[in-house]
Amino acid sequence: MTTRQPVPERINWAVELMAPGPDDQLLEIGCGPGVAVGAISEKLRGGAIVAIDRSATAIDRAQKRNAHHVSSGRAAFVTMTLEDVRPTDVLRGGRRFDKILAMNVNLFWVGSATKELDLIKRLLKADDSLYLFFGYGPGLAKRPRRTHRAPDPRRLRPDRRRADGEPLHPP
Ligand SMILES: C[S@@+](CC[C@H](N)C(=O)[O-])C[C@H]1O[C@@H](n2cnc3c(N)ncnc32)[C@H](O)[C@@H]1O
Repeated sequence: MTTRQPVPERINWAVELMAPGPDDQLLEIGCGPGVAVGAISEKLRGGAIVAIDRSATAIDRAQKRNAHHVSSGRAAFVTMTLEDVRPTDVLRGGRRFDKILAMNVNLFWVGSATKELDLIKRLLKADDSLYLFFGYGPGLAKRPRRTHRAPDPRRLRPDRRRADGEPLHPP
C-alpha cells in the first residue's frame, strides 16, 4: 500500500538544493517516515536511494509510504544504525554514492561524529557531497553544511548551542 501525504516545505527546499540527478545513487541516514525519500525518488530514473534508520517503526512507515518506489527499485530501506553500517550493506554493485544526506539526525549535531564521518568518506564518491540539514518549518535561515571531496570532521563540527546557550535540538 502506498500512502501519499503532503511534503513539508523544508523537505522540498532541501531536495531542490541537492538537485538529485536522474541517475544518481543516494543514501539517506535517519530517514524517519521517508518523506524525503519520496520526494527524491520522484526525480530519479535510472538512479536509486537507499535509506537507513535505526528505528524499525520508522522504516516500516517509510516503506509503506514509498511502496511504489520500492517496487520500482528506486528506493530501498534498511533498519540499521549508521555506526553499524558496513559498505557492503548499502552499496549496490559496489558503486559509491553520489550524494548522502541526513536531516535532523542528532548524531551530527551533538558530538563530533568522527567515526561516522570516516565511514561516510568510504561510502561517498571522492568528489561528491554530504548534505546535513537541521531545522523545521519554512524560511530556513541557515544553508546546510555541504562538504566537497573528503568530509573533514573538523570542518563539520557543528555549532552546538543557540545564542542563548540552549542545545540546538531537544534531547
Ligand atoms: C528527528 S528524526 C528526523 C527524520 C527525518 N529525517 C526528518 O527530517 O523528518 C531522526 C531520525 O534519525 C534516526 N536516527 C538517529 N540516529 C541515527 C543513527 N545513528 N543511525 C540511523 N538512524 C538514526 C532516528 O531513528 C529518527 O528516525
